[in-house]
Amino acid sequence: MAAVASGVGQRVPRTDSADKVTGRALYSADVFRPGMLHGAVLRSPHAHARIISVDASRAVALPGVHAVVTRDSLAADVALIVEEEAHAARRVLDLLAAEKVRYEGEKIALVAAETRELAEQAVALIEVVYEPLPALIDVAAAMLPGAPLIHDEQTVATLDDGQVLHNIAGQMHRTNGDLAAGWAAADRVFEDTYTIPRAHQTYLEPQVAVAEVDPQGRVTVWTSTQGHFAIQSNISKSLRLPLGDINVIGMTIGGGFGGKFGGVVDTYAVLLAQASGRPVKLVYSRHDEFLDGRPAPGLRITIKTGVTHDGRITARECWAYWDVGVGSGASWATGRIKGVYDIPAIALHAFEVHTNKPAPGAYRAPGAPQVTFASEAQLDSIAAALGIDPVELRLRNLPDDKPQVAFRRTLLAAAEQVDWAHRTAGPDEGWGVAIGEWTNGAGPAAAVVSLAPDGGAQLFYGLMDLTGTDTACAQIVAEVLDLPYERVRVTRGDTDSAPYGTGSGGSVALFSFGNAVRDAAQAAREQLLELAAAHFSDQAQAVTVADLETVDQQVRLRANPDKAASFAELATLALRQGGPVVGEGRFSPKPSAPTISAQIAKVHVDRGTGQVTLLEFAHALDVGRAISPVSCEGQMEGGAVQGLGWGLMEEMLYDPQTGRNLNPDLLDYRVPTSLDVPPQQTVLVEEPTTHGPFGAKGIGEPPIAPGIAALSNAIAAAVGVRLEHPPFTPERVWRALQGLDPGPART
Ligand code: MOS
Repeated sequence: MAAVASGVGQRVPRTDSADKVTGRALYSADVFRPGMLHGAVLRSPHAHARIISVDASRAVALPGVHAVVTRDSLAADVALIVEEEAHAARRVLDLLAAEKVRYEGEKIALVAAETRELAEQAVALIEVVYEPLPALIDVAAAMLPGAPLIHDEQTVATLDDGQVLHNIAGQMHRTNGDLAAGWAAADRVFEDTYTIPRAHQTYLEPQVAVAEVDPQGRVTVWTSTQGHFAIQSNISKSLRLPLGDINVIGMTIGGGFGGKFGGVVDTYAVLLAQASGRPVKLVYSRHDEFLDGRPAPGLRITIKTGVTHDGRITARECWAYWDVGVGSGASWATGRIKGVYDIPAIALHAFEVHTNKPAPGAYRAPGAPQVTFASEAQLDSIAAALGIDPVELRLRNLPDDKPQVAFRRTLLAAAEQVDWAHRTAGPDEGWGVAIGEWTNGAGPAAAVVSLAPDGGAQLFYGLMDLTGTDTACAQIVAEVLDLPYERVRVTRGDTDSAPYGTGSGGSVALFSFGNAVRDAAQAAREQLLELAAAHFSDQAQAVTVADLETVDQQVRLRANPDKAASFAELATLALRQGGPVVGEGRFSPKPSAPTISAQIAKVHVDRGTGQVTLLEFAHALDVGRAISPVSCEGQMEGGAVQGLGWGLMEEMLYDPQTGRNLNPDLLDYRVPTSLDVPPQQTVLVEEPTTHGPFGAKGIGEPPIAPGIAALSNAIAAAVGVRLEHPPFTPERVWRALQGLDPGPART
């Protein structure tokens, strides 16, 4: 097929850019329904306290208040189902705090009122009597045998050596290879401890949902989500509603980064809509986000690595303590400690530790920035100790490139970008390199591609576009059907209309949907060509599909270009001959291959103030195949900036005494702006993966992984101090330069 100017691999603008920059795109907060009320949430002011009583009578009595939902009112509602399905009832009840609050901001009651101000006023009228309990914010303190239990007795863990740990939500222990032999083969053994604080995804658009319940009890939810089918399923399970009674409409999303898979606002909006009989909008403030979002878990990790004199890693062992707040489920990410390297023996010990903080959620390559920082910062200090160039040390431990995986090529591409071997640095300037990896997931996907009577294509599917996937999928349709991508209209269906599709997380979206879209477009193309073949056939000549080609939105005979029909003519002809041209494509999960992300930072450190300035930043990423290079570069830049934010300024701070969040706003929780980040040099490496559409890998996540380490390594190269606790704020860097303790790491 002929190359299309806006097809696969071509540099085109994103299809949604104009709507977004002009403010035309409709976000969930833009949804207004007749009679709509506004929700507000009563949150715990304490990080840890017993609830003695909740009195909502004054809120209920306030004119303009239409619903007040408390744990007691929920209990009355679910009393009917307790007998038959205790577990389901429990799930409904657990939506609000009961005997205890376990973090500042935990939800205690909900209000729906005529205005948001009124709802907030009503919330303030709810009287709660608390008995404060000691707050635990630090994993080391929370594990002590004397520490108060945030949950229950089941969180007391006894280790094989008899040691007792408190507040343990989960553990993972794993050994691969012969560890004793690995240590025996080592000439030097390095052991370091790193602590990484919690970081919030800080999507620009806070969590928001509008819920409406019709007289039959059928629920519609408009929300900002990475996966509307996931929201549908979650609401069904949380509120014990039949799946088919819930329609979720995914609106334009202002970022998610793992934090928008539901359960934070949508379920509560539905509860209020059910209780009030009116549509209800529930919008998080930025303050709500910091108190009751689902940020990345903090990590305290000790890593021990054995190496030979010439820098070959012989063994590695680590002890990881994940700060999972009142939640669980982070320890699996500890496996990333292997990084991209050949390590003959490796052992992991991971613990999920409860603290008085909200449950963590996924944040872009969950766990990778934290673990990669530890392993890549330590590797850098090993390189320095052994006197080996940091790129060279990595090359000595990297596997050879193989089909689907460009280990070395990606690192070398980044190094070449900055001419690493000849890099220069002025006073107090330094270069740092780090490598991250991630293998995209995959999920079920389906797509329908049809031709409109005007010859334009229509793509319909249930994919949420966070990252430019609509653009990339339009390019795939354009490529297959051989027409400009502007002629592809992309429509995202709600859960009532679209075939089931995986959510946009885990870098699965384009990898999965891209395959379905390609197949759907291919099926539509085949129909179009068959129609044309029949149309061109006459008694003199039987035309087959093989005789045809597509050029300029026409199908024509290869042998006789004068014999041609436009897509529009054929699509119109189809309406009375066989029916509209429509193809479908389906996909179920298939494996991908690792995506390597290599980053190199050059920094300047101001010795007087400790300020770190990023001077240059190069980034190579193996994208498999760049279907939409502009979107790939956008993902690289965005992911890298988030990693650099973790490295330079981002940190959720908690008061060690009260356990309350100390920086719950974007003034005190700083994220990088365009002034903090120099132009990035992005290099697309393309080592195709077998099951990706056109060889593409899912690439949203890996760009965030190496940034913290690249910065720490650059700072060490610039001024000789190695910082074990990001972010590398002026205060921490300055203190380290003075030989002082760099300051508390509250993880
Ligand atoms: Mo994610 S952490 O939604 O890829």
